[in-house]
Amino acid sequence: MIRESEAPHAADPHGWSGVAEGWAELWGGFAEPAWRALADVTGIGPSSRTLDVGCGSGEFVAFLDRLGASAAGADPDPGMVGVARSRVSGAEVRVGDAERLPWPDAAFDVVTAINALQFADDTDDAVAELVRVTVPGGLVGISNWAESDRNDLGTIDAAVAAAAGEDVSKDGDLRKPGGLEALLGDGGLEVVAAGLVEVVWEAPDDDVLVRGVLLGEEPQVVAATAATVIEAARPFRTSGGYRFVNAFRYAAARKPG
Ligand SMILES: C[S@@+](CC[C@H](N)C(=O)[O-])C[C@H]1O[C@@H](n2cnc3c(N)ncnc32)[C@H](O)[C@@H]1O
Repeated sequence: MIRESEAPHAADPHGWSGVAEGWAELWGGFAEPAWRALADVTGIGPSSRTLDVGCGSGEFVAFLDRLGASAAGADPDPGMVGVARSRVSGAEVRVGDAERLPWPDAAFDVVTAINALQFADDTDDAVAELVRVTVPGGLVGISNWAESDRNDLGTIDAAVAAAAGEDVSKDGDLRKPGGLEALLGDGGLEVVAAGLVEVVWEAPDDDVLVRGVLLGEEPQVVAATAATVIEAARPFRTSGGYRFVNAFRYAAARKPG
């Protein structure tokens, strides 16, 4: 799994290059409970102009499109943008960082970011940019993984880190209770809703388990770590593979009118 603590390397400043197809296959639909919560609290409907920032392979953009909204997406990784465009032909998906969105001021009624803002160089700058492209009176909605001890997958991350002789990465501010609300409040917005949703990730077999957990790792790291992943996942075995219960937090806030 591409962990938040990993430093991007020079040739791939975002660390997401080359994983778009794998992300779409293994993780693309997994945060659906968070999509539903955000769409609900922001009131997205057929007349909404929406932008999803850090849209990855575009599953949430497609969801917004199915809701009848005018849906757009942005992601810095051209591979992700390519997959997202192929998924939602009617949506405008552009290459762009959260910190530099290629749209004019006040272009959207609702702007979202799911499991993405932690990769921005500066989350406050990113929020300021999300706010810039939101209409006065419009809403910004963010969702992220909750703190590690709410996530079964945290057990696997800890085992992988231990096998590599690394410390387990500490939870970033966006994962902590109140972290999303604080970020939005500091950005000058009025928080209107916040909550926690259960997000389940399932792997039908060892192959999908290892490919999902170690997505983005070099082949030699995958070969060396696969057995650790399978052993750590033992408590989460079911009759049909593996099931991990995790949590995402979400918050929505209004831009002053
Ligand atoms: C964990 S994936 C999540 C993708 C999608 N939001 C989802 O929930 O499936 C993180 C995404 O954030 C993107 N990303 C990385 N740095 C970013 C930045 N500075 N601004 C916006 N998105 C960024 C990556 O390219 C990747 O597509």
